[in-house]
Amino acid sequence: MLTGKRILLGVTGGIAAYKAVYLLREFQKAGADVRVTMTPSATRFVGSETFSALSRTPVAVDVFSEDEDDSWTRHIHWGEWADLFVIAPCTANTLSKIVHGTSDNMLTATVLAARCPVLICPTMDGEMYESPAVSKNLESARSMGFHILEPETGYLASGLEAQGRLPDPDVILEESDRIIQNYLTKGPLSGKKVLVTAGPTREYIDPVRFISNPSSGKMGISMADAAARLGADVTLLKGPVSVKESERMNTESFVSADDLFELAKKHSDADVIIMAAAVADLKPAEIHQNKVKKENASEELKLTRTPDILKWLGDQKRENQTLIGFAMETEDLEKNAQGKLEKKNLDWICANSVSGPDSGFEADTNNITLMGKERRKEYSGPKQEIAVRILRDIFDSKE
Ligand code: CTP
Repeated sequence: MLTGKRILLGVTGGIAAYKAVYLLREFQKAGADVRVTMTPSATRFVGSETFSALSRTPVAVDVFSEDEDDSWTRHIHWGEWADLFVIAPCTANTLSKIVHGTSDNMLTATVLAARCPVLICPTMDGEMYESPAVSKNLESARSMGFHILEPETGYLASGLEAQGRLPDPDVILEESDRIIQNYLTKGPLSGKKVLVTAGPTREYIDPVRFISNPSSGKMGISMADAAARLGADVTLLKGPVSVKESERMNTESFVSADDLFELAKKHSDADVIIMAAAVADLKPAEIHQNKVKKENASEELKLTRTPDILKWLGDQKRENQTLIGFAMETEDLEKNAQGKLEKKNLDWICANSVSGPDSGFEADTNNITLMGKERRKEYSGPKQEIAVRILRDIFDSKE
């Protein structure tokens, strides 16, 4: 049901925190990738190590953690990473903080930063649940767009029978799936055809030799995945790379720049085109049918230009079509990227710095400056998270 979906599970300090362990397992069994954030009080009911071990990711509890490199920005990254943030159980205290915008721990800070849908499962004693303050906070939470799954009536930890129990995992899973599916049909890219290119081209000299570059395709595939998560109908044109894309897109493969050009022309009616492929600018003037033997090989290789695919797409650009290019530079990053933005008639360009080990071709993280005609913004972090942030900023901007 939730194959490939990313669930951020928030656990707060109520007795039902132990049930969140089973909930995590059920999310995983349904195919979801789960990360967990807990409030400090929740760790008094269940150790964070239990959730870390089961989710295979350290649990985020402290905003000011000293042993995690990315603790300063993790609330932002995780809020971007998730398809859905499920807070189960959610105490009256955390509900109140959410409604009032308090961000005094990792969980509440992440709620503020999250741009994915948030499902709150209020769980508390019946008297508390019926109190005017909780009722008012629930009403406010609904009006702010939070999804609320009402607690069930039954036997509570206090020994009383009342409404306040955390619903069973299958009820929470079903509601989570419903919210994600609904988001996809109303997401910022729903109903849009998005074409993404990723990976390097290979320009063959003979059957066993080619000119290429070290592009891993990770950034382009992350962009394709992010577009699908935001509701788009995605076609991915993928070069020869080992990174796997998710099943939620149609994929066609290319080898050379000429192949890619043909495929790009075929799909050039897309509403959005994201050209992340690292296209070779030059190809051998002649491709030998058989392997060139050493004794016959010339010391010089005659090259000829490949088509500038993005420039062609920019020249043909329709009204309401959005063209996004990439620019990988080793010097004068912004000046060169600005030149490409104008020359290729683009709406946006992702200027990609190759300085340092945490960005560029093969890294899992990246540093990108997104440049538009009037706006520019910087991003750094895991490619999968940056990709969602970039597309949300372009297509779901409330600025
Ligand atoms: N691109 C393309 N066709 C080419 C070369 C590049 O469509 N033959 C696209 C890339 O996919 C990228 C953008 O153009 O989105 C910029 O590519 P880049 O290699 O950074 O720049 P070039 O235009 O090739 O210019 P230069 O090599 O001089 O930096």
